[in-house]
Amino acid sequence: MKAVVYHRFGGPEVLAVADLPEPKVNLDGVLVRVRAAALNPADLGVQSGALAGMLESYFPVVPGWDVAGVVERAGPAAPEFAPGDEVIGYVRGEVAHRNGAYAELVAADVRTLVPKPRALPWAEAAGLPLAGLTALQAINALMPKPGETLLVHAAAGGVGSLAAQLALGRGARVLGTASEATTPTCVPSAWSRSATARVSRAASAHSPRTASTPCWTPPAAAPWRRRRTSAPGSRRSRSSTSPA
Ligand SMILES: NC(=O)c1ccc[n+]([C@@H]2O[C@H](COP(=O)([O-])OP(=O)(O)OC[C@H]3O[C@@H](n4cnc5c(N)ncnc54)[C@H](OP(=O)(O)O)[C@@H]3O)[C@@H](O)[C@H]2O)c1
Repeated sequence: MKAVVYHRFGGPEVLAVADLPEPKVNLDGVLVRVRAAALNPADLGVQSGALAGMLESYFPVVPGWDVAGVVERAGPAAPEFAPGDEVIGYVRGEVAHRNGAYAELVAADVRTLVPKPRALPWAEAAGLPLAGLTALQAINALMPKPGETLLVHAAAGGVGSLAAQLALGRGARVLGTASEATTPTCVPSAWSRSATARVSRAASAHSPRTASTPCWTPPAAAPWRRRRTSAPGSRRSRSSTSPA
């Protein structure tokens, strides 16, 4: 199979395409044919070596922890999935080796996979697992209640946009910060006295969701449109799930 690999820590210059053997699948594992893979900040940390103290890397490394794809083969102890099932997953291994999602095939533990949401295109679905889990953990920890106001920093980003939607789904009111360049109607992310004043004004506004609404119609040039997914596709679902 073809895969993206790196043989040493570094930036984009260390990435190359290589031919690798098909990954071995555990008895309770699943072989997934990759349709899209996502890029998270942690991928850059692992590849650069910044996270070497936390995660062992054995070169060559195939990067990528987020995947969306189709089950090619399921192990004999993996009755949860069958060939042809469309799945998404967070497929980080205990070490970084030839087990990433930037490949034609990835071997995944069934516990890391769930069915792909039917409404999502492949690229958007691949962007969901890690950012979604992170957002969910944060929202579960905070437990926002209906009517409470939650301030989400970096609300135009992968984690922030999902955290805001999860909080809105629980009935909370959401204020989001983002850079003025990309989302001019949101509170600016460069914190200042004027930003504090804008948050205070938004927080005291009478209409519960008005203040956060403009954040969810990001322009085509929003950073995560260019960076987060490796396959073509738009993030229309984010605006279609608009709280407006
Ligand atoms: N992705 C994950 O699964 C994951 C998991 C665990 C932890 N994290 C951490 O969560 C954070 C966000 O990750 P992400 O995946 O959501 O990244 P992302 O999609 O790249 O979004 C990052 C956001 O940060 C905003 N930002 C940049 N500089 C800022 C500043 N000085 N003040 C306020 N906001 C600023 C940007 O806002 P604008 O768009 O407005 O410029 C951008 O939308 C990172 O620190 C990451 O390490 C992420």
